[in-house]
Amino acid sequence: MEDYNLYFEANRSLWNKKTPVHLNSDFYNLPAFMAGETSLNQIELSELGNVKGKSMLHLQCHFGQDTLSWARLGADVTGIDISDEAIRQAEILRDKLNLEATFVRSDLYNLKENLQGQFDIVFTSYGTIGWLPDLNKWADIIDHFLKLGGTFYIAEFHPVLWMFDDNFEKIVYPYHNTHTPIVTESEGTYADRNAPIKQVEYGWNHGLGEVVTALTSRGIYPEFLHEFPYSPYNCFANMVQGEDGFWRIKGYEDKLPMVYSIKATKMDR
Ligand SMILES: C[S@@+](CC[C@H](N)C(=O)[O-])C[C@H]1O[C@@H](n2cnc3c(N)ncnc32)[C@H](O)[C@@H]1O
Repeated sequence: MEDYNLYFEANRSLWNKKTPVHLNSDFYNLPAFMAGETSLNQIELSELGNVKGKSMLHLQCHFGQDTLSWARLGADVTGIDISDEAIRQAEILRDKLNLEATFVRSDLYNLKENLQGQFDIVFTSYGTIGWLPDLNKWADIIDHFLKLGGTFYIAEFHPVLWMFDDNFEKIVYPYHNTHTPIVTESEGTYADRNAPIKQVEYGWNHGLGEVVTALTSRGIYPEFLHEFPYSPYNCFANMVQGEDGFWRIKGYEDKLPMVYSIKATKMDR
């Protein structure tokens, strides 16, 4: 079995550096969040629906804005992330806002060692699965923590986007997961391109077939798979904002899939 720890440790150190930059960025707009604004987008809010009274596991929760936004809507939330700094800051935010939420620092693949119980909803969004090499292991974790009849939901950047170079000028990476890491030296972060962070990162692209098949092979069946020609975030180079407020890649407006979402139910097998 392949040992991914070297890659994960490098990524963990990178996310520890990114977290304080993100906390202070316009992108994450912490003052608005602290004042009560949700950090969630219309896509996941409308598609996941009412979460009041539901237990929710949020995978790769970063510093917890979305986790705490779900808590504000009445969900009983647990957020997990590999980054020590992200989890530390999530706990600080939770306490400042006097909200109920549990945060666990864990590599996703080792979550069974660090968390117990089962949840009504497992949620993950925007920039998560690209840090994981093997979606079968990911789906095993979802299956383990999701109650029978429970809902899995993902909103994620489309794998087609990850095929391009940073400036969206040419295709340089494969659509399919080749099971060898895509190694890039990132400078700055999507939330602050001038941040003094320069470090190698390891990622993997996952085609839609790989995502869906990992889920269905564990009895987690999609109700829908939606593809959106826009992004709620201005997080790639060369993006332009449409009159609808959403973001697209300049020159490819409404030509590229930007985001997809899947809502699925865990069935009896
Ligand atoms: C783009 S962020 C999460 C996105 C979230 N939508 C947000 O903006 O707050 C990706 C997160 O994945 C976490 N992560 C990366 N690799 C991980 C792993 N192997 N296990 C758990 N978390 C991981 C990072 O620490 C980071 O917080």
